[in-house]
Amino acid sequence: MTAPQQAVAGVFDAELVRLDFPILAQQVNGHPLVYLDNAATTQKPECVIEAIVDYYRHDNANVHRGVHTLSDRATLAFEAARECVATFINSPDPRQVIWTSGTTEAINLVANSWGRSSLHPGDRVLVSWLEHHSNIVPWQLVAAATGAEVVPIPVTDAGEIDLDALDSLLDDRVKLVAVNHVSNALGTVNPVNEITRRAREAGALVLVDGAQSVAHWPVDVQALDCDFFIFSGHKLFGPTGIGVLWGREALLEAMPPFLGGGEMIETVSFTGTTFAGLPFKFEAGTPNIAGAIGLAAAIDYLGGLDRAAAAEHETALLRRTLELADEVPGLRRIGTPTHAAGIFSFLLEGTHPSDLGMLLDQQGIAVRTGHHCAQPLMDRLGVPGTVRASYSIYNTQEDVQRLFEGIHKARSLFG
Ligand code: ALA
Repeated sequence: MTAPQQAVAGVFDAELVRLDFPILAQQVNGHPLVYLDNAATTQKPECVIEAIVDYYRHDNANVHRGVHTLSDRATLAFEAARECVATFINSPDPRQVIWTSGTTEAINLVANSWGRSSLHPGDRVLVSWLEHHSNIVPWQLVAAATGAEVVPIPVTDAGEIDLDALDSLLDDRVKLVAVNHVSNALGTVNPVNEITRRAREAGALVLVDGAQSVAHWPVDVQALDCDFFIFSGHKLFGPTGIGVLWGREALLEAMPPFLGGGEMIETVSFTGTTFAGLPFKFEAGTPNIAGAIGLAAAIDYLGGLDRAAAAEHETALLRRTLELADEVPGLRRIGTPTHAAGIFSFLLEGTHPSDLGMLLDQQGIAVRTGHHCAQPLMDRLGVPGTVRASYSIYNTQEDVQRLFEGIHKARSLFG
């Protein structure tokens, strides 16, 4: 595995970080690429690409099954990746780290396993208006099956969870509060410690969707004190198709399996099947071995960076973005949270978000446009969608400058 090229303690230089991400060196539509769609997926450093290629070139075999050397090597690397994730999020035990295909599958796992076995008619699951569809729809499906109810926690015009409204909803009907750590659409950083404290007082469990937070700062699941923490590898510089469900051990032990098949059993017979212990009870079928190994390489890579300095760098990019946004007539930021991760959602008067997105793309600038899989939030804020620029560790002030040059050019074209 290549060491990060700029791994000098206390020093963070985004220009050097960029060199570790080969995709960023290319021209797109005749312009140097400015990649500002990191909330959708992050780019991959060379060491992650190499780890995946190395695995397929040298070690590829199925895990936990073979007696042969390759299977041993694959199993060791796969389980070392689990330990790497456990350390990364400060899990008390690697057995609490369950591999999934991503955030969506992890939330569906909790909804189908914990939800179907624990929710009853009249019970409530609270989700905020800020949620991605993946933290709404699984709860609606399980509510329809159990007679429970999904109740939205109001958000303010600034795009922040209304904590007073949360308090008024928290009663003994509430069994779970499911919120994101950072809103994918607006960048709002939610006070999950405070939400957890209030939910716990009311006797409810808390699920935190960390898909948009883990790449921005170190997460400690024990300090968060939540019951479930979930994230995807591909938003953390790792590959697609791999994600993590972390849960409290007692809860995971009590939960029934979600998918049935190989690997998740102890014994199978027509008179009664018994299930494997954690974490395998929830890992039916051949897992994404290369994905887990790639994700561990991404976490190792991050471990070589000064993460506090990287977070400060992203904050500086957003700060400059907001200064430049103030100078653009007709530009309206959507959501004005006090605490925001590196996400800037906006509209430009007289311009449809997708037209602006396409014009930016012609200038080599990649952003996302639309409702960002957060239609209830768009309805709440009274907008059909937004243009979203989302920053990561390898973006630079020059990228911010290019974004605004692109916006000014688009303004002149749209008149
Ligand atoms: N959830 C991802 C996004 O916000 C795909 O773009």
